[in-house]
Amino acid sequence: MTKPLFTLNLLAASCLMTLSASAETFSFAADDQGQSDTLVLFQQQDGQLYGAETLPGETQVQLKRAAAAAQFKGAQGQLLELLAPTGIKADRLLLVGLGDDALTRGEMAALGASVAVKLGTLPQQQVSVLSKGIADSQTFAAQFAHGVELKSYQFTHYKASASEPKHYQLITENVDAAQAAHRQLQAVEGGVFLARDLTNITAGDMYPASFAEEAMKLRKLGVKVKVLGRKELEALNMGALVGVGKGSEREPMLVVAQWQGSDAAPIALVGKGITFDSGGYNIKAEGSSITNMKSDMAGAATVLGTIKAMAMQQAQVNVVAVMPLAENMVSDRALRPGDVVRTAAGKSVEVTNTDAEGRLILADGLWYARQHYQPSMIVDVATLTGSKVRALGREFTGLFSDDSQMITELTFAGEQVGEKLWRLPLAKAYGDELKSDIADLKNTGSTAGASVAAMFLKEFAGDSRWAHLDIAGNALAAGGTSVSPAGATGHGVRLLSHWLITEQAK
Ligand code: BES
Ligand code: MN
Ligand code: ZN
Repeated sequence: MTKPLFTLNLLAASCLMTLSASAETFSFAADDQGQSDTLVLFQQQDGQLYGAETLPGETQVQLKRAAAAAQFKGAQGQLLELLAPTGIKADRLLLVGLGDDALTRGEMAALGASVAVKLGTLPQQQVSVLSKGIADSQTFAAQFAHGVELKSYQFTHYKASASEPKHYQLITENVDAAQAAHRQLQAVEGGVFLARDLTNITAGDMYPASFAEEAMKLRKLGVKVKVLGRKELEALNMGALVGVGKGSEREPMLVVAQWQGSDAAPIALVGKGITFDSGGYNIKAEGSSITNMKSDMAGAATVLGTIKAMAMQQAQVNVVAVMPLAENMVSDRALRPGDVVRTAAGKSVEVTNTDAEGRLILADGLWYARQHYQPSMIVDVATLTGSKVRALGREFTGLFSDDSQMITELTFAGEQVGEKLWRLPLAKAYGDELKSDIADLKNTGSTAGASVAAMFLKEFAGDSRWAHLDIAGNALAAGGTSVSPAGATGHGVRLLSHWLITEQAK
């Protein structure tokens, strides 16, 4: 049983936002009525053009000549735009290359996203997408729509948005199955967009209490939400979380959101929620690294987004997100480099660097998840280290785990949706760097930063089945990604949702 709900009475902050969504609309049909102004056709690398048989013979010949002249070969993601070919009612035709291999879900979505970008600036509104004939065309159509929506997300909180929504008609074999798959993916989008919104909102507006308020909005979906403030955290001896939050006027909090869609033991998702990481007294003084640190709560945003995605589709999983939240600031009350904090698990930590704050709050978050939920597994998600960014950049998330089944399942889910994981080592030698002269542990080592940080977390994951995802570099993309516009990506929501649904749902 979970504890009774605790509601803060000091949440004076007003409702911050109306959550963004993609404004595009979608319908699925078995046949094209030929009423669209834009027609999207797919071609494989071997030359096979899907839906060609619906076109007049003369048009097919023209298409072949145009494709040859433009050196369009159907490579995956290749686009060829043709204006008003004869024999087609639409005034624009877009050929999309499928390549020659079976596509993953993520690759199908990426095709939708690239078409959305191509059409985004054009005035045409009615798009017909002929996916009939493509292998598993209902999945293809649903994922294509998913990609369009993911890429069409607009963060309008500080800005008026101008672009007009488009209507996509997806022509596919099994209309009902496509529609059902699309509805499920729209639930995932609900989670991705929540994560992006929470991350995009600036740190001036997104602090522990305002994050908690957004989490409480999930109650209307049947999610149980608990919010613990400073007093409760102190009573639970969460000296690490309280310590990191001490420098800020805004009190640290722990938010817990549970979607209980099955009677199984819960899976715990623990997300790093540093609403702003100045570095503390070890201030981020180099270059522009401090400027993007509103995104240091992206782990918390990802796990909350995943809860929303599960709730919106009433998934048969029991999953609880534990989100320690704090603002890492400089003030006369802030942690000093060299201070010792005591974690709820009982271990003391010498804070050799106030900028290694994520592992501190996660130590207390991991303890809380274990203590209060006895989870069958724990996955933590955190923008944890610059070291991870240097090792893997933005293309991969760092995966740390000793659990071979979790490694296999999570890596596979990542490949499927295109949020890829690369395993990095956990090893005693990295943990040995964390020995302190005056406390049980210190919070920094001297060599491989991402692995040392992971070994610190492992101390607090204890004997639980556990995986750590370092999403530093993945959470914010200045130039966008294949499926997200510039800004927060909501990275990890699709991965975790896919993993939970395909591997954990009853
Ligand atoms: N939030 C940062 C990590 C980070 C860096 C996230 C770049 C996203 C982009 C984290 O709190 C941090 O400052 N880590 C330090 C740890 C070091 C002081 C041991 C780092 O990795 O430099
Ligand atoms: Mn830091
Ligand atoms: Zn940080």
